[in-house]
Amino acid sequence: MYEFMAWLEGSAFADTLRGLGIWTYGLLNLGHILGIATLYGAVLVLDLRLLGLWSSIPARVLARPTVPLAAGGFVLAALSGVMMLSFNTTEYHGNPFIYAKFPIIVFGLLNVAVVQRLGAWRRMTGGESPEPGDPAVLRVCGGLSLLIWTAVVTCGRMIGYW
Ligand code: HEM
Repeated sequence: MYEFMAWLEGSAFADTLRGLGIWTYGLLNLGHILGIATLYGAVLVLDLRLLGLWSSIPARVLARPTVPLAAGGFVLAALSGVMMLSFNTTEYHGNPFIYAKFPIIVFGLLNVAVVQRLGAWRRMTGGESPEPGDPAVLRVCGGLSLLIWTAVVTCGRMIGYW
């Protein structure tokens, strides 16, 4: 792991970023925060709906804006995060929060892939009538997703305090 971190920190990509000026890291951090806010805000609204809140609003209607917003927010957070990480990668060596954050992100992406293949999700987003077990399945999906992304935000915030 340390070898990979040292390689990333010493790469031409990281050198170029560090050479861009004193505002670069701050602007990347701003991009990261905006990405996180967009991702987590969208996930929070959709997952609380799946958990049963605001039942008068069809989940399919909420999914339309929140799913692409979450995807866009994730891309922004991931791009800015990789650039921030390459600035001084070896500083994070041994930091348990960064080591926990990446597997949880992978788990979160796998969860998205699985949920989008579920019949309950496809019926909900397609506006079809639900089958008897669908609300329970969607509640579990919403709860799990909220837990995962809350854990990612928590790990991210704690990295700096280790
Ligand atoms: C996928 C690639 C990602 C990478 C490589 C990455 C990397 C980083 C790095 C290097 C930091 C700075 C840590 C520090 O020195 O304090 C950070 C901060 C943070 N990250 Fe990420 N991150 C990624 C994605 C995400 C995602 C998807 C989320 C949340 C949904 C997230 C949440 C956070 C939070 C809350 C902070 C603290 C920000 C602050 O207080 O300024 N990260 N991340």
